[in-house]
Amino acid sequence: MKDKLEKLKKEILDYLKDVKDNDVLREFEIKYLSRKGKLAEVLKGLKNLDASERKEIGQLANEVKKEIQNKFQEVKNIVSGEGGQDKIIDVTLPGKKIKKGSISPLTIVQNELEDLFTSMGFMVLDGPELESDYYNFEAVNIPKNHPARDMQDTFYIDKKNKDDEYDLVMRTHTSSVQVRAMQKYGAPLRCVVPGRVFRCEAIDASHEHTFDQMEGLMVGENISLDNLIAVMKELLKGIFHKEMEVRVRPGYFPFVEPGIELDIKCTLCEGKGCPACKNSGWLELFPAGLVHPKVLEYGGIDSKKYSGFAFGLGLTRLVMMKYGINDIRAFNNGDLRFLKQF
Ligand code: DAH
Repeated sequence: MKDKLEKLKKEILDYLKDVKDNDVLREFEIKYLSRKGKLAEVLKGLKNLDASERKEIGQLANEVKKEIQNKFQEVKNIVSGEGGQDKIIDVTLPGKKIKKGSISPLTIVQNELEDLFTSMGFMVLDGPELESDYYNFEAVNIPKNHPARDMQDTFYIDKKNKDDEYDLVMRTHTSSVQVRAMQKYGAPLRCVVPGRVFRCEAIDASHEHTFDQMEGLMVGENISLDNLIAVMKELLKGIFHKEMEVRVRPGYFPFVEPGIELDIKCTLCEGKGCPACKNSGWLELFPAGLVHPKVLEYGGIDSKKYSGFAFGLGLTRLVMMKYGINDIRAFNNGDLRFLKQF
């Protein structure tokens, strides 16, 4: 029995040395390792041995079996891996083409702006899209029943619980994150907040129910309109890659005092007047202002010690101006012909 085992082991290991492909390996497996194979047959002889011999030979049999199995696995790995003749990789064959999407123009511009602002020490913050009436309106100085609420058509959502003090709204602007940021980080503070906002609009080429804004907020000691305009000019240089001529007009927003509208000289006619700028020579770019003391107080910041500026960039509008996109609906309709151009 012992001799038989040794002989079989030698036979098997010799056989395995020459196996180079899967078919031969399969044949080998059937011939030697299957239930009716040669190894099983020899092992069957164990039960005819007397007890003392069975122990010794049994141990040997186990060792042989293990050795054979290890060798078999080793050869199998080689044959089915790169070394196998039937698996040689032909590196000259054309590869499989992986379909890649493209980056939305909104994301491209958002990334650029985030880089620009972080280089000026601003944090990039996020806030909830489903927001409480409190942060969206009250905390930015638009109390209930204030006529300024009419400036933004709003999707109201039922309160979570009947007894909750505030309704929920799909946020109408990213200004909703101003007081959240002040409460969390205090003063001094510099942040931008890119994100989606929602309005109950009748949709046409220039109105959408879902679009993107980027809010900016800087709070510190002695922050003035000068700081605001300096940052805005830096921002415009980043977007248009040249110095832009700007003009400032007064504008009304309850959360800033004074509030301004920042215009740039029309990029198409350079100020001469054309249909794009309604013959005024100027394009309305974004509103901004000095943060209203009440908003600072809502944010837990001492308005006697600190002041700040805020601006509300219409990200979607900016992207439309930058790439000459004339229909806002293109952003959300999922048409790949639009998206693939970027
Ligand atoms: N939240 C305003 C809107 O969506 C835009 C805005 C105006 C934001 C003035 C500001 C600001 O931060 O100072 O209409």
